[in-house]
Amino acid sequence: MGEDRTLFDRRLEKHRDELRWLYMELYDNGSMFAELCDRMEQFYLERDAKLRDRDHVREAEAEAGSAWYKGNDLLGMMLYVDNFAGTLKGVEERLDYIQKCNVNVLHLMPFLKTEKGKSDGGYAVSDFRRVNDELGTMKDLAHLANTCHEKGINVCMDFVMNHTSECHEWARRARAGEGEYMSRYFFYENETIPRQFEQTVPQVFPTTAPGNFTWLPQIGHYVMTTFYPYQWDLNYRNPRVFNEMMYNFLYLANQGIDIFRIDAVPYIWKELGTSCRNLRQVHTIVRMMRMIAEIVCPGILLLGEVVMEPEKVAPYFGTIEKPECHMLYNVTTMATTWHTVATRDVRLLKKQLDTICALPKDYVFLNYLRCHDDIGWGLDYDFLARQGFEECAHKQYLNAYFLGKAGNSSRGELYNDDPVTGDARFCGTTASMCGIEAAERGLRQGCPKEETELAQAISLDVMLHAYMFFLSGNPILYSGDEVAQKNDYSYREDPWKADDSRYIHRGRMDWEALERLKDADSTESRIFYPLARLEEIRRTSKVFVTNADVWTVETGDDSVLGIGRCFEGEKVVGLFNFCENDKTAWISETDGMYEDLLSGVRMQMVNVKLPAYGFRYLRRCAC
Ligand code: GLC
Repeated sequence: MGEDRTLFDRRLEKHRDELRWLYMELYDNGSMFAELCDRMEQFYLERDAKLRDRDHVREAEAEAGSAWYKGNDLLGMMLYVDNFAGTLKGVEERLDYIQKCNVNVLHLMPFLKTEKGKSDGGYAVSDFRRVNDELGTMKDLAHLANTCHEKGINVCMDFVMNHTSECHEWARRARAGEGEYMSRYFFYENETIPRQFEQTVPQVFPTTAPGNFTWLPQIGHYVMTTFYPYQWDLNYRNPRVFNEMMYNFLYLANQGIDIFRIDAVPYIWKELGTSCRNLRQVHTIVRMMRMIAEIVCPGILLLGEVVMEPEKVAPYFGTIEKPECHMLYNVTTMATTWHTVATRDVRLLKKQLDTICALPKDYVFLNYLRCHDDIGWGLDYDFLARQGFEECAHKQYLNAYFLGKAGNSSRGELYNDDPVTGDARFCGTTASMCGIEAAERGLRQGCPKEETELAQAISLDVMLHAYMFFLSGNPILYSGDEVAQKNDYSYREDPWKADDSRYIHRGRMDWEALERLKDADSTESRIFYPLARLEEIRRTSKVFVTNADVWTVETGDDSVLGIGRCFEGEKVVGLFNFCENDKTAWISETDGMYEDLLSGVRMQMVNVKLPAYGFRYLRRCAC
């Protein structure tokens, strides 16, 4: 025990001055700070010995410059517990499948207690220390995490810190008029202040939940609700809110969680006269959270969900000396990727990747094609304007394209089609957006030409994954994408979901479809096995570590993206054809022979041919 204390003290000592400074700057409350430190120690002492060992190893690795999330071997998958396997126990029983997918980071979508129909897919938490009854118990979670660890799998969960459900105990007590609890949210007895906020605060769900406040007739007050009316924004000006949320965070860390996706983090500080996004105090809070984690549970990571324009994203990494998040979603790259699919023009994507590649290598992005949310068309419209694209018209083009209205085979639905701005976002699974759903339907209807369409859609789907695995950072798959899961339209029949088209890509895992993996010609096999091969290449080649040199390569064709990577003398070049026609990458790398990592063929890297939606991973030969 004495030794444990020393370790805790040492970690606390390292951060105490800065932590105290930031805390006092925000709250000017010494006794609450002292309480925070006491509780941190308590959580540390309660932490399971295995987890503490894990921390110890990871802390040492990070200090030696090889943090566990900076290698080339992480592959994530995000999934809904109920859709995937019913319960947490069910997930545990299916870990063999997770391993078959080569996945070692399992992001369990929100599973904490929520109220049916008022859950926003689990993002309206009514108890941070209880698992949703249908999904299991906290014990099941700790058991699952432990089993995952034994199998080399890390567990990620959402920490929904911007708001609680209106059914959370704090909200219930606030609604009952308890001042102490009302001060944990933003309450206003008339519309004066809410109106002032509305002048500067944009809307997150303009159609499904317009406005940023909700009137509560029972108590004659407005409450701030940036997201849905049942998600009450927490008031982080109140140190009690910060402290209690940190205790919740540490409690969950002690269940064995490795990665916390800090949900909607840019929104956590509100200030009249601002957009209430990305305010300075948000960074203070994230920095404090990072230090708290490094003191109590240094093995864990903070993954920031910052769905913002690029210049707002990178600051969430903090600085090298004072880091905030360990990892951030590569959100603009994701949206730009789909823009590239629709336009077959890689110029904007190349520019976006150049921006990412110019960032310090310590900044690790999480790359993805799809997640549980809609795709917002947050692109660099200044750049696009120079190419003749106008923002509003272009968004409409993208939506029409992915709806399949351009005579193409993409399928999906609009999301929050804003009647005022004419702006809409987009929903659909990767497979459906790539055209697999439409082609398969055509085939079922006896249309043989769809065979070619299907082959092309599959090529696009695989190429997009190959490109995503090649980016700088760590990749994460959206569950079902590995077997080309299509859109699920059944949400329209569910009154709780019908308004929210994001459910179109939140369908149940189709375990029967997995049976088709036995048939090499099935669509599932034609996606699953190529992905498995790419994953193997990535995890066995050091050149894919997160701190490799990565740059874009000029290819002389606007439909072909080139990416180079180099690490400790090993060099690979990835070429990706975003067009449905065969193309040539007009390049000439004269530094030796190259080997195609997929076919094993040796070749010169001069004017490389690429089939429609084809790609190549080319490695410079050692000799
Ligand atoms: C995040 C989630 C999204 C949710 C929102 C509100 O953006 O990804 O699904 O609706 O937070 O919690």
